[in-house]
Amino acid sequence: MKGHDVVAVIDFGGQYSHLICRRVRELGVRAELIPYREAGKLMSEDSERVRGVILSGGPASVYSENSPKVDFKALKGKPVLGICYGLQLIAHQLGGEVKKAEKREYGRASIRLLNNTPLFQGLPSEFNVWMSHSDVVTKLPEGFERVAESSNSSNAAIQSSDGMVYGVQFHPEVSHTENGKKILANFIFNICKAQPSWSMDNYAEQAVEEIRREAGSRKALCAVSGGVDSTVAAVLTKKAIGDNLTCVFVNHGLLRKNEAEEVLRIYREELKLPNLIYIDAAERFLNKLKGVKDPEEKRKVIGREFAEIFEEVNSRYGPFELLVQGTLYPDVIESGESRAGAARIKTHHNVGGMPKGIRFKLIEPLRQLYKDEVRLLAEKLGIPPEITRRHPFPGPGLAARVIGEVTGKKLRICREASHIVEEELKKAGLYDKVWQAFAVVGDDKATGVKGDERSYGYIVTIRVVESEDGMTANWVKLPNELLEKIANRITNEVEEATWVTYAITHKPPSTIEPQ
Ligand code: XMP
Repeated sequence: MKGHDVVAVIDFGGQYSHLICRRVRELGVRAELIPYREAGKLMSEDSERVRGVILSGGPASVYSENSPKVDFKALKGKPVLGICYGLQLIAHQLGGEVKKAEKREYGRASIRLLNNTPLFQGLPSEFNVWMSHSDVVTKLPEGFERVAESSNSSNAAIQSSDGMVYGVQFHPEVSHTENGKKILANFIFNICKAQPSWSMDNYAEQAVEEIRREAGSRKALCAVSGGVDSTVAAVLTKKAIGDNLTCVFVNHGLLRKNEAEEVLRIYREELKLPNLIYIDAAERFLNKLKGVKDPEEKRKVIGREFAEIFEEVNSRYGPFELLVQGTLYPDVIESGESRAGAARIKTHHNVGGMPKGIRFKLIEPLRQLYKDEVRLLAEKLGIPPEITRRHPFPGPGLAARVIGEVTGKKLRICREASHIVEEELKKAGLYDKVWQAFAVVGDDKATGVKGDERSYGYIVTIRVVESEDGMTANWVKLPNELLEKIANRITNEVEEATWVTYAITHKPPSTIEPQ
């Protein structure tokens, strides 16, 4: 996106790379995550906007064969901050030495400042940081001095004498590091002299401009789901190209209770999405899902069916050259599509399942954003709260919450019970405070007594989690009275639900959705 000062975060595959971007943006400066192989390209095409460079952490050892490197010359003398692997790379590539530490340093550590540095300006002389490394810098490159030490690494922070290159062994982006945000602010504002101009207001304006430029006079198709991401992507695109956009809402029969009707009303009456096509494909999806038990297989079946429907829409209403998607940054990471190669966790079909027969060019105006940023953007765009406040919902819908085969019966139980969970949370004023709240049903059954009769019905599991961005999540300790009320309602109102359990694992180790 043109116009903003940018801090380039060069990604070496570290688990916290995306957090660095997030923190930089929280400080009001645009951050772009760049795979390390593409660092040179960014600097040659767009170096003027880049005010500084952050080298992320990463799982490799600098001295191992084929370890990722950075071409320091290509960074064109911009200020550099290396974090963890980034620090080791600075030492290793600029003539210092890195060795395996005698003791791996993981978790909280205390660092002591040794010399003045603009990086730690205004900070106390000793504070706690978060470490996660097994290599240490044992010799500094020429022209560098150490500015902080910890009990395990004597070079916990270093700087070059010309004040342009800095490195820290710890992770300032992680919330456990005290003063972490201040350290990043010192780097961005005092050292890089970046101007804070990143806000959702001008993000929207610039996104619209960019879509308009990319699209030209071409026609675009956007699959809208009722979720905040695809809706925001569609509204931005509508603002950019108006009637050249066609929106399609596919009901795969795996939606929440009353969802299709409510969403259609908002799309038609409030947002007036252009050329809206509604396709009721419930039967089609459910037929294809018959007998499919494996979670990844279910995702694939659903992805394939979506792709087929897109092809049909394309030949009937198109041809479209552009496909608009509300892909978010966490989708990109969790699909293992992250540019430096994070591991694949689940196939998110909204990233992976593209129609094979059509060569769409993708427009993904939210690819760099997190959910909370998108919600903010949605509010700025005047999208109603029924959509902005709606909990995230997976593309495969209730198929991710019905464990094993998706049958009509399990689907009904899951849908009705989820509705009760949501309704009770809303009544208790907690719906907006949690990330997701839903019911899960599998094939496990348990005995109940309803009236005077024994019945052998399904076990329903409730999952309620809080999260900042879906990457990690904690189960919510709901009041017992509320849990009791939900359980009572489910067993009373949902036919064939006999037991209710509550899921009490965090993510990690569990994921949010059971499948
Ligand atoms: P997990 O279950 O992986 O979910 O911890 C993290 C977040 O992503 C949502 N999710 C999906 N979204 N397609 C989607 O569009 C999917 O296949 C999918 N699987 C999970 C999930 O609801 C949670 O918010």
